[in-house]
Amino acid sequence: MEAATVFRNPFRPGAGHTPPYLAGRKEERREFRKLLSQETVLSNLVLTGLRGVGKTVLLDTFKPLAVQEGWLWVGADLSESTTVDEERLATRILTDVALATSNFVYDRQEVRRPGFDRQPELLDATLNYPTLRAVYEQTRGLVADRLKATLTFVWLALRASPNPPRGIVFAYDKAQNMADHAGKDEYPLSVMLDVFQSIQRQGAPFLLALTGLPTLFPKLVEARTYSERMFRVLFLNRLDPPDVREAIVKPIQEDGCPISFTEESIRQIERHSGGYPYFIQFICHEAFDVFVSQITTGSQNPTVPIEAITAKLDSDFFAGRWSRVTDRQRDLLYVVSRLDDPDTEFSAQEIVELSKALPVKGFSPSHASQILAALINSGVVFRNRHGKYSFAVPLLGDFIRRQYPVEQPELQRHGT
Ligand SMILES: Nc1ncnc2c1ncn2[C@@H]1O[C@H](COP(=O)(O)OP(=O)(O)OP(=O)(O)O)[C@@H](O)[C@H]1O
Ligand SMILES: [Mg+2]
Repeated sequence: MEAATVFRNPFRPGAGHTPPYLAGRKEERREFRKLLSQETVLSNLVLTGLRGVGKTVLLDTFKPLAVQEGWLWVGADLSESTTVDEERLATRILTDVALATSNFVYDRQEVRRPGFDRQPELLDATLNYPTLRAVYEQTRGLVADRLKATLTFVWLALRASPNPPRGIVFAYDKAQNMADHAGKDEYPLSVMLDVFQSIQRQGAPFLLALTGLPTLFPKLVEARTYSERMFRVLFLNRLDPPDVREAIVKPIQEDGCPISFTEESIRQIERHSGGYPYFIQFICHEAFDVFVSQITTGSQNPTVPIEAITAKLDSDFFAGRWSRVTDRQRDLLYVVSRLDDPDTEFSAQEIVELSKALPVKGFSPSHASQILAALINSGVVFRNRHGKYSFAVPLLGDFIRRQYPVEQPELQRHGT
């Protein structure tokens, strides 16, 4: 009993919470190191994947890799509000850069460029926010031109400092929130791409590392087709089976841990989590508490109450999303959940076909596409570049099937 109060539950279900043991992801870390070793930055990073697959915590582990290789690290979450317009994007970038560079003192003589030396008294010899802002304000032209000039200045100044860094990594999480707004004549996403593309071509070692839901990369390509060539896309999947096991077992193999999971429990957790990191943390967190309490009450053979845990997962994780879905959208998602393998890709046509065999009002192709578009907007579904759809939420198909437990006879007959 004593040990149980001392050894806290190590599992961390939550957005961006560092797991007790980060399982797998070796290939992704290797790929990131490759990007860091580029002499000239030709490839930037897009780290993408479904909800809760571990994008944020993996990006966090990239930071020490970059710092070790001599890079500065600039990072932030991109909320919609910080990127609604181009000026705000510029402020965001300048603020972020200044945080990483404000310790750098540079030699003014080395960084003379047309335009910058008109009002040298404004320029401190420190790369802090007022300096960056002054350069930005003194440059003429569009936001993109001014940002390019300022970042180029930053690079020249860093290079002229006593200990120049290898470059700067710009790590932006939740980057799917960025968008151009033609109606308001504001193109922050395109500006960001143009700026980095241009300064990289001029040799500035500034690397973009964008993280976000699977809508992110198609969005980048839609804004600027050259994004196809500008980014290396790493799509995070569920963990591989040996890594799933490590994620479950390693955190409780620590000294002083009062419990261990039985082989049967481990198998159950593997199966019910589907190998998805958030679900692993969630189920293990619950199971840990249950094991501790079963042991303290003297149970010889503790077990994971998987049904109760699944019910809790449904209400904590899925129910909120499901409650925002309209009735007609639910009908459509229900049809998807009845496809042979709803957790891979599906097409509007497949939905139209199958809906005829199910006890729901059928869908015309255009209606199905329209509903899918709405579901993309609310982040439930995404569309890949080949026009196929997928759930943006892992194991959503299982959840939906649990919402319709009563099998109708005609459903069971269907299958041809
Ligand atoms: N490799 C891993 N091994 C073990 N646990 C992990 C791993 N990656 C992520 N997790 C856990 O999974 C959960 C989700 O991680 P994270 O928040 O990074 O996901 P995400 O992809 O950024 O989610 P979102 O799409 O909501 O932004 C956290 O509880 C985290 O601790
Ligand atoms: Mg995240």
